[in-house]
Amino acid sequence: MTPGPLGKDLLGLEPLSGDQIRLILDTAEPFKEISERAIKKVPTLRGATIVNLFFEPSTRTRVSFEFAEKRLSADPVNVAASSSSVTKGETLVDTARNLEAMRIDMVVMRHGASGAAQFLAERIESNVINAGDGTHEHPTQGLLDLLTLRDRFTTLEGLKVCLCGDVLHSRVARSNIWGLTKMGAQVAVCGPRSLLPNAIDEMGVTIFDHIEDAIGWADALNVLRLQLERMTAGYIPSLREYNRVFGVTRERLDRAGRDVLILHPGPMNRGVEIDSDVADGPFSVILDQVTNGVAIRMAVLYLLSGGRPELAEAAKGGGAGGAR
Ligand code: CP
Repeated sequence: MTPGPLGKDLLGLEPLSGDQIRLILDTAEPFKEISERAIKKVPTLRGATIVNLFFEPSTRTRVSFEFAEKRLSADPVNVAASSSSVTKGETLVDTARNLEAMRIDMVVMRHGASGAAQFLAERIESNVINAGDGTHEHPTQGLLDLLTLRDRFTTLEGLKVCLCGDVLHSRVARSNIWGLTKMGAQVAVCGPRSLLPNAIDEMGVTIFDHIEDAIGWADALNVLRLQLERMTAGYIPSLREYNRVFGVTRERLDRAGRDVLILHPGPMNRGVEIDSDVADGPFSVILDQVTNGVAIRMAVLYLLSGGRPELAEAAKGGGAGGAR
């Protein structure tokens, strides 16, 4: 198969150009409508076999990819590491090569090790989509965040977006920083210094030490989950203290006296990084992000499988759109 406009794999947003990111966002637009139909299915990827290989827990990403694959009529197979031969000591590459021997077309993989998606992509012929690798990148989450912001603000050019909280452990933060800066947005981070990477200023972002300043500056806050499972040292005194100093609360937003859009990639720690009345409030687009995730993943699957961007509208109507 001739590589499409994204190449063979989607490993991150860092290697993509602004034009490639815009292409994915634009391709997702016509796919949104398919999920609103009574019969949510088009034959675009009929015959494609896709393995969803998840070595870490996931609700949104795994289910969203499976919906995207099924809505494009592909045949997905879900492999959870906990019930695979990985538990018997099989390597990642052996697992993937055995799956490839059954003639698959794509692998969607979540893995706890940064770089695992690239490692796999260099060793198998199937397309590899990174569904989150360690603290490195989560490109489809970054893309769905960008699409949600573009829906609300029409353009990302000049938009002020602040990533709040545990940037250190966040693959979502990295994909957002790469994606947003390539699309011309202004990006800031805000959190305790212990939860900001040392080289964060080299990524061209502004740093806020106080959440009040971040709220006063931003058009949108992308509130990150405190990744307690990745914390091997005492990064914060306590969850209560974190909420008191860095929590995105109704009171803080009210004090800013302006509307600030609220995003969160999920899963949320309610009452820690975000209060419930913010998460469920009028400026929250957290569930819109989840809805957009399906369209973004349909667009990525379509483009990686050779679908022609200009035919995405036709693919939506039932044509193959040049895919496969
Ligand atoms: N946003 C996200 O990656 O959520 P899951 O871990 O549930 O997939």
